[in-house]
Amino acid sequence: MKAYRASILSFATDREPGPCAALEEDGLLVVGPDASGRQRVQASGPYRMIKALFPAVPIEHFPGRVIAPGFIDMHNHFAQTNVIGSPADGLLPWLERFTFPEEQRFSSAQYSADAARFFLDELLRNGVTTALSFATCSTESVDALFCEAQQRRMRLISGLCLMDRHAPAGVLNRAAPDGSRNACEQSLLDSEALLQRWHGADRLGYAITPRFAPSCSEEQLRGAGYLAQRYPEAWIQSHVAENRDEIAWARQLFPGSASYLATYADFGLLRRRAVYAHCIHIDDQDRTLMRDSGAVAAVSPTSNLFLGSGFFDYATADRIGLQYGLASDVGGGTSFSPFHTMLAAYYVAREGQSKAGLSLSPQQLWWQHTAGAASALGLDGVIGNLQPGCEADFVVLNPKATPLLARRSAQAGNLDELLFAMIVLGDDRLIERTVISQAEDALFTIERP
Ligand code: GUN
Ligand code: ZN
Repeated sequence: MKAYRASILSFATDREPGPCAALEEDGLLVVGPDASGRQRVQASGPYRMIKALFPAVPIEHFPGRVIAPGFIDMHNHFAQTNVIGSPADGLLPWLERFTFPEEQRFSSAQYSADAARFFLDELLRNGVTTALSFATCSTESVDALFCEAQQRRMRLISGLCLMDRHAPAGVLNRAAPDGSRNACEQSLLDSEALLQRWHGADRLGYAITPRFAPSCSEEQLRGAGYLAQRYPEAWIQSHVAENRDEIAWARQLFPGSASYLATYADFGLLRRRAVYAHCIHIDDQDRTLMRDSGAVAAVSPTSNLFLGSGFFDYATADRIGLQYGLASDVGGGTSFSPFHTMLAAYYVAREGQSKAGLSLSPQQLWWQHTAGAASALGLDGVIGNLQPGCEADFVVLNPKATPLLARRSAQAGNLDELLFAMIVLGDDRLIERTVISQAEDALFTIERP
């Protein structure tokens, strides 16, 4: 066992929705293996009290630092690191001009492994300890990402991108080399084989991953829905209602469905553990459909601002009870940093303020990227918080990491002011250390030199 002394940020409950952050000014976090050897939080609370309960446990002291749950990125694309900051006139031209050509390169196992290494290290450097990530249409890309995540003992969810039409041949799913199966059939068989190989291996999870309805044939969506029913513990990830041209296209391709979102319902792809990126241009009927099915939204504000897609409607999502969490959407999104994502979410909610009087509080923003995201993924009590029993994924933050942060955070009179100073002024320099729960009796850490 090992203990860490610092200020400790946690959320009062991971069962009930809603933010209720608390900061233990002089706290102690005790971490140790469970019966299966996985590192979990054993205790967390005031230093004096917890130390007395664990007198023999060695303590590492971080004066002036804040220990907080590792961040959860609910939606990104590991193959789009090289695409960040590619300007285009909206989503569809951006996919064609920049994204598809880059993703095509991931048919190489070597290219995929190099990209996966950089991507995961960049997540960890930014304090992100769990991600739900798109791979590409190549099985090599999926294996590469899972292999690298497994080596780092990360909790990571990913899956083979399903896309059998409306893109250049090099980026689509491939037919069987001997011609015995078309791309759609092969992609579904590959998905199932990858799911069986990776879902539940250490801390990895599989997500059935139709890119978005316009990129999938009816047969492919039907097959994805069949897998979703057959493997109810696997996640589903896709995109919906991000951009008006995309929506018009989806409606044209699936005219029989009541809405773009309903297309996914019609193929059995709305259920718990289904995560839909964006959900911007949807109506209350769609929100209700999502809520009732247990599907959730991955809100990607830096991406939505960068691609000019629109603004997630927080107030209406809350009113209807649609669950959501924050996401970078790298490479449509502009940053790996959860601080940048939280700040963009704040701006987006301000845009909706005139309509609903809603301004997100710093605690709400932080919750959406930790305990709230965990809950949306069905992983509450497992990650995203520092209560006893949670996996020991956490970050050590230095609120004095830059001169401006030091100056501003010294003026913070309460928890909200401290959190807001970090959200507004923070980036990867704030993350002094990222600690990952390991299966062995050790903790994997990435430390800032
Ligand atoms: N819709 C379909 N594919 C993508 C993608 O790669 N990024 C974003 N932002 N939206 C998508
Ligand atoms: Zn995306």
